[in-house]
Amino acid sequence: MAFTRIISQAHLPTTNEVRDFPCNGKMICIANVWGKLSAMDNECLHQGGSLGQGMVEDGKIVCPWHAWKWDPKTGVAVDHPDQKLKTYPIKVEDGEVFIDI
Ligand code: FES
Repeated sequence: MAFTRIISQAHLPTTNEVRDFPCNGKMICIANVWGKLSAMDNECLHQGGSLGQGMVEDGKIVCPWHAWKWDPKTGVAVDHPDQKLKTYPIKVEDGEVFIDI
């Protein structure tokens, strides 16, 4: 495990919001679904939309470009189960947010 700081806790998305942040040279999508945090690769596997610019709907991250839905826990596209984004363990410690990237 190699947890890396990505943001401070104060910058986390609020309940049922999603945002993207740079970490280790790439963009990471962090979602807050009813207080449950998740981290996954930010680039939609359909055509490269930025998932952190999308929204949370029914517990899924919705791509802002063509509305593919992604499961924040597994990284799998809901209607395209063969498409899977990498997910990362995430934790909050002493006011800072870390992901295992
Ligand atoms: S780029 Fe994400 S749904 Fe098309």
